[in-house]
Amino acid sequence: MNAPLKIAIAGLGTVGGGVVKALTARGEALSGRAGRKLEIVAACDRDESKKSGLDARVWVNDLHAIAQSAADVVVELIGGENGAAPSLVEESLKAGKHVVTANKAMMARHGVRLAVLAEEKNLALKFEAAVAGGIPIVKSLRESLFVYGVSAIRGILNGTCNYILTQMEATGRSFEEVLKDAQRLGYAEADPTLDVGGGDTAHKLALLTGLAFGVKPDLDGMAVQGIAHITPEDISFAREFGYRIKLLGIAKITPQGLDLRVQPAMVNAGTPLADVDGVFNGIVADTKQAGPYFFEGRGAGEAPTANAVIADIVDIARGNRGPAFGVPAASLLTLTAAPAGSASSPFYLRFQVLDVPGVLAEIAGHLAKWRVSIESMIQRGRAPGEAVSIVMITHETTHAAVAGALETIAASDKVVAPPCMIPMEAK
Ligand code: HSE
Repeated sequence: MNAPLKIAIAGLGTVGGGVVKALTARGEALSGRAGRKLEIVAACDRDESKKSGLDARVWVNDLHAIAQSAADVVVELIGGENGAAPSLVEESLKAGKHVVTANKAMMARHGVRLAVLAEEKNLALKFEAAVAGGIPIVKSLRESLFVYGVSAIRGILNGTCNYILTQMEATGRSFEEVLKDAQRLGYAEADPTLDVGGGDTAHKLALLTGLAFGVKPDLDGMAVQGIAHITPEDISFAREFGYRIKLLGIAKITPQGLDLRVQPAMVNAGTPLADVDGVFNGIVADTKQAGPYFFEGRGAGEAPTANAVIADIVDIARGNRGPAFGVPAASLLTLTAAPAGSASSPFYLRFQVLDVPGVLAEIAGHLAKWRVSIESMIQRGRAPGEAVSIVMITHETTHAAVAGALETIAASDKVVAPPCMIPMEAK
């Protein structure tokens, strides 16, 4: 057998602990896959109590010792966009070590620079665990689904949001109530902003975009909206129209450029993405005449994420060291983004209005001025002088046109709450 592959692990939280456990419990089988023994030679964590699950000889006290250890591969599981994580990765690559990371924020922001460094030194930089947990979407885009090119990626990339939306649909409860439950059950962080605000999905989408389209991951050019404004009423109207609401990361080639955004969208019920429930993730990759492909699985948690990390380690052990984004990082293109607001689709619109004569005509008039054509409409209830909901589905139009009309409509004294607009995504 070949020489052992020596591994150093920084961060022994849920994922790091899972990696150690699986490498220990399934060592022989994994070494068989790798063609060589997989040996942990160094590990560290801020929390010294994490020492207990390890062979005491491998414990080191700081990240510098990880980067300068005898390891062939450094596994970065400390997280964070800036600071310790990118410093560790940089130092490790400079010290001639391959790197495996689960850090989506770091890879979305610094991935190109780190990939250039890795490639200059003929080292691997792998990040399967950074996107959609155990789903092998990074490897699939990097090593398989490139032959005819990718025309679109649509993904449910955040399990917390998908859990919340699924529970809102199942129970009819509000976003705030379900979020509190999710926090109690440990599905949502104490500070849920990155998940429910769409930032986590944005990090993952930026990475998928780099892999799918050969462009530099671009967080700054992405429109990002979360799910906090979605109401149980929206979810129930969606169902009535034959849709489900999902937080999607969308990256599409359009004649105007790459349409890149994170937002709640209406997805046709009965299609694969619509049926992704609870904490699961799902991704549709349109690969022109070779596609589409649909992936579904666990996007977080100890075993799925440790699976992704170890699969990367095994790849490196076998000598699979291709470029991090599938093409040399120095050749990644700069994104040509579609102009803001140019994304085009039918839209779901919900208005909270006073039930008075003329309100519908006023809304329809503003929509007509922006050339937004209405396909269907529902008004629920009758409450003269009180607030009622009016829901409309438009024909295909642009985001900019709907947003323009809604800005004027929102200013009306008959409209009592900010209107809600949700695009209806094609299958
Ligand atoms: N917080 C993420 C989610 C998992 O809820 O899907 C890690 O990326």
